[in-house]
Amino acid sequence: MCLGKEKMPSCAAQKGPNTFGLSKVTIGLQTHLSPMYAITGATGQLGQATLHALLTQVAPKQVIAVARDPQKAADLRARGVHVRPGDYNDPASLTAAFQGVDTLLFIATSELAHAVRVQQHQHVIDAAKQAGVRHVVYVSGVNPTPTSKFGASPGHYATEQYLRQSGLAYTLVRDTLYLDLLPLLLGPTVVADGQFYFAAGEGRVSFVLRTDVAQALANLLTSPGPANQVYELAPAPAHTLAEVASALSEVVGRPIQYVEISEEQLASGARQQQVPEPFITLLTGMAAAMRDQEFAATSPALAQLLGHAPTTLKTYLQTVYGSQVA
Ligand SMILES: NC(=O)c1ccc[n+]([C@@H]2O[C@H](COP(=O)([O-])OP(=O)(O)OC[C@H]3O[C@@H](n4cnc5c(N)ncnc54)[C@H](OP(=O)(O)O)[C@@H]3O)[C@@H](O)[C@H]2O)c1
Repeated sequence: MCLGKEKMPSCAAQKGPNTFGLSKVTIGLQTHLSPMYAITGATGQLGQATLHALLTQVAPKQVIAVARDPQKAADLRARGVHVRPGDYNDPASLTAAFQGVDTLLFIATSELAHAVRVQQHQHVIDAAKQAGVRHVVYVSGVNPTPTSKFGASPGHYATEQYLRQSGLAYTLVRDTLYLDLLPLLLGPTVVADGQFYFAAGEGRVSFVLRTDVAQALANLLTSPGPANQVYELAPAPAHTLAEVASALSEVVGRPIQYVEISEEQLASGARQQQVPEPFITLLTGMAAAMRDQEFAATSPALAQLLGHAPTTLKTYLQTVYGSQVA
């Protein structure tokens, strides 16, 4: 597949020293026909979904699940997947885990503190380099900037910069917000209440289903294009939250309204529900970034990687709320 953000000639024309043709990876004098894949965050939601998709395409013995708690990956081991311990805080464990790996799928940490996130991510990249990994696919976020109000964005920016400067061949896969976050954002009683509150203004968001991202990642791992490309997994159309409300109204057959509140009101509402402070900061920052249109840009890359149209907002809402029809 040859689908990077940058315009490029055909895949065939791109084959060369900058290409990672993993269907036939050359290691030393040997031609390695069965590349080894490793996935960090393998016990997380995206990691699990990606492993599930990848295991429909390659043999379990070609896959290494890297987990800080290998006990959580017992089911994968039972399926024949190699399970290795690897903690983002422990560089030596990562270097050991990445031995013999051709392509590493690097899933970001769930740690929230910026400085810790960046340090953990640098450990992963340093270890990949030390272990001789041939290619790193980093799952980043859309529109990463050092100044974004969305807490994860500056960490993605710093990680991308570090990876670009590492000398490793890389691919950056930038996810937009997951559709799967919507039930959290709308609240558990949205249908009964007929309304939900948030602070995103008229901000447009391109949402993506986590399992669509997982399938796209598996496809990209097994049918790689040229190295050093950026894929924006942000399908059109981008929606305002008023449009989300309207789509949900259609699904459940009763009016649902989006009620705009201030960031302060959003924070104090979350505080009343005992949401921990770091998550409140993440939530209000996300709302501000939505208002600033940081998630509004769209790209055809996901459909191209999947080979079909991605899951739409309406289909997702139908799946989750379809049983709550008035
Ligand atoms: N685009 C979006 O809307 C969106 C939403 C949520 C998250 N994200 C980002 O996407 C990433 C993956 O999403 P997800 O839904 O799969 O999140 P997740 O389920 O929280 O997965 C995060 C993974 O990181 C692992 N991890 C955390 N600290 C680690 C450490 N010190 N060493 C090794 N592994 C560590 C976790 O291990 P355990 O399994 O042991 O916990 C988990 O497997 C997240 O980390 C976050 O950066 C994006």
